[in-house]
Amino acid sequence: MRAVGVKEYGTTPELLDVPKPTPGPGQLLVRVEAAGINPVDSIIAAGVYGKPPLPLVMGVDFAGRVEALGAGVSRYAVGDAVFGRAQGTYAEYVVVDETGPVAAAPDAVELKTSAALPTAGATALGILERAKVRGGESLLLIGAAGGVGTFLTQLASARDVRVVAVTRGDESVRMGLFGAAVTIDATAESVPDRMERDEYPEGVDVLVDLVSSDKAAFAANKKMVHDGGVAVSTRGAVSEHGSVQSGVEEIAFLVEPTAEVLAALAKEVDAGTLKVFVDAEVPLEQAPQAVARIQGGGARGKTIVKL
Ligand SMILES: NC(=O)c1ccc[n+]([C@@H]2O[C@H](COP(=O)([O-])OP(=O)(O)OC[C@H]3O[C@@H](n4cnc5c(N)ncnc54)[C@H](OP(=O)(O)O)[C@@H]3O)[C@@H](O)[C@H]2O)c1
Repeated sequence: MRAVGVKEYGTTPELLDVPKPTPGPGQLLVRVEAAGINPVDSIIAAGVYGKPPLPLVMGVDFAGRVEALGAGVSRYAVGDAVFGRAQGTYAEYVVVDETGPVAAAPDAVELKTSAALPTAGATALGILERAKVRGGESLLLIGAAGGVGTFLTQLASARDVRVVAVTRGDESVRMGLFGAAVTIDATAESVPDRMERDEYPEGVDVLVDLVSSDKAAFAANKKMVHDGGVAVSTRGAVSEHGSVQSGVEEIAFLVEPTAEVLAALAKEVDAGTLKVFVDAEVPLEQAPQAVARIQGGGARGKTIVKL
């Protein structure tokens, strides 16, 4: 089958011809309709999280239809529209355990669009859960215009959270449509100055930093949170003793996209509280270029690979 991945860790992704997988007991064979691109795809392909066998098919998010069932499968039938996570989704087929991270796709969007949801959507929902956001809080979101940011802005504002969205470039119209109360263009003004002067001189309740990869940058952003607040990093940039030192709880977030979380996302999409912003759709042959573009920054919403 056709796929895109790497023959050596850290090399440029390319078109591959790899064997079509067969579903084992309890597994679904899914004919992939689209794969979502995430920053983590390149990190996995660089061998950072381990050295799975090569060639390595890239991608973790998929949407598609169940084509065949392994022995004993009871939750799904052939033809079901599903979305979820599996390693190697830039490919015509993937297998996934029926009890794994897979759920019925939402009805309100085209099936291919659901491929944008699993990782970024589960991250957005999971952050609200981990930070114990219950509604009414203020939330400073750094890196708001990308995959996680556009989902989180919507899910938070639907819970009456006042979102201050930080972007690079003027994204105020789009972020406003997603529910941000304020959008700050970090290339046009100093975010700390604006927060101190106009928005939250006393500090926000919650910081979600999707951008800072080093502890110093995260610590600087954490200063915009008041004592007793929460600061979340999706990039592991938390300090070792930060919460003790500053009175701000630090969370190094790690996504856990279970079937339950995916079902909750589908429900939000069907309820109209979560719009999926697909900025670009590329055919499989152009996945390597799309991955390179995203690595270079500038993501707006999600990019999907159409199989
Ligand atoms: N720990 C976990 O479980 C987990 C889960 C999901 C994602 N992540 C990580 O979280 C990060 C965000 O994920 P994502 O899927 O949302 O990535 P994405 O779709 O690439 O979006 C990142 C966004 O941040 C913006 N950005 C970069 N630097 C910025 C700055 N200084 N100020 C404001 N905006 C800035 C980018 O646009 P510009 O380049 O135009 O500024 C882009 O819109 C990634 O590093 C990803 O690997 C971690």
